[in-house]
Amino acid sequence: MKTLISFMIALSVWAQGPRREFTPGEVWLDTAGQPIQAHSAGILLHRGVYYWYGEDKTLGNFNRTGISVYSSKDLYNWKREGVALPKDSVPAQFRETGVCERAKVLYNARTKKFVMWMHLDDKPYAVASAGVAVADQATGPFRFVGYSRPVRFDFGYPEKDRTNQRELGNTYRDMNLFLDTDGKAYAFYASEDNWTMYIVRLNAEFTGPEMPQVEGKTWARILVKQMREAPAPFKHNGKYFLITSGCTGWKPNRAGYAVATNILGPWTEKGDPSVGAEAETTFRSQSTFVLPMPGRPGKFIFLADRWNEKQLEDSRYVWLPFEVGPGDTIELKWVDRWQLP
Ligand code: DGJ
Repeated sequence: MKTLISFMIALSVWAQGPRREFTPGEVWLDTAGQPIQAHSAGILLHRGVYYWYGEDKTLGNFNRTGISVYSSKDLYNWKREGVALPKDSVPAQFRETGVCERAKVLYNARTKKFVMWMHLDDKPYAVASAGVAVADQATGPFRFVGYSRPVRFDFGYPEKDRTNQRELGNTYRDMNLFLDTDGKAYAFYASEDNWTMYIVRLNAEFTGPEMPQVEGKTWARILVKQMREAPAPFKHNGKYFLITSGCTGWKPNRAGYAVATNILGPWTEKGDPSVGAEAETTFRSQSTFVLPMPGRPGKFIFLADRWNEKQLEDSRYVWLPFEVGPGDTIELKWVDRWQLP
């Protein structure tokens, strides 16, 4: 029966033909007619193919399946390639009701490996560490390398700290990766129990922080005590941009963005990029990634999650086009449907 249903769905998807537009917030089916399960998306462009990695929440919240991967050549039509990092690849405390979130992947041209970073946690979000996995192919399987907290820096540790930062290093939660035009890679992540954003340059293999660590030279604290998360960095005309969200669990909130000439700062805060109805909740969504539009310098796609807290597997994707305007300003506007220019 299940096979027959899958066959009927595949037939109707085929009959409809390929997708030719983005419809933010609506159910997005893959090429087999199944809803795409890749939340907190990260996109890798490798040899003309886009790979979309994300949390597979088919079985609900937490890490019950792993990190899935889809491929596409046109950004509209996505083929499921399977689970790139199965839940059992990570230590037991991060499986089932453990957390494996916001995975992102870079290709390291020197080692010819695909490197995935992720936020690993236990159910109460107290382990708050970075996980690293590597693969020979974009679609995986990724082999788990280990987990750690990349930076240990005394920011004035609180007396009572359920995350033990003084002993274990500073927390690592919502994250992203960024590959600069000079080949150096960076992790952006919410640290200090989400109070402050960190930017940490990675080593040549992209598997850990560059050592020795020097604040302001190999890593930086930015948006200090601002409680921001969901970092989505990108670069335009030699400048660095970072869109973030506030920190309110699965509930949407106001986005903010910042600009810098040097990736390690100083960063200038520019306020909320969203305009129009529902700007105060980033159109009921939370940032996850910014993708440069193929062949369109200065044009980008804002990728976000519209979480459905009661049914996380039914959370939707919000992809919106935007460009960088004069004075390094950006404006995010809602559109019901749109196409690549
Ligand atoms: C907000 C984060 O952005 C998500 O990745 C997730 O950790 C939720 N909080 C959990 O409440």
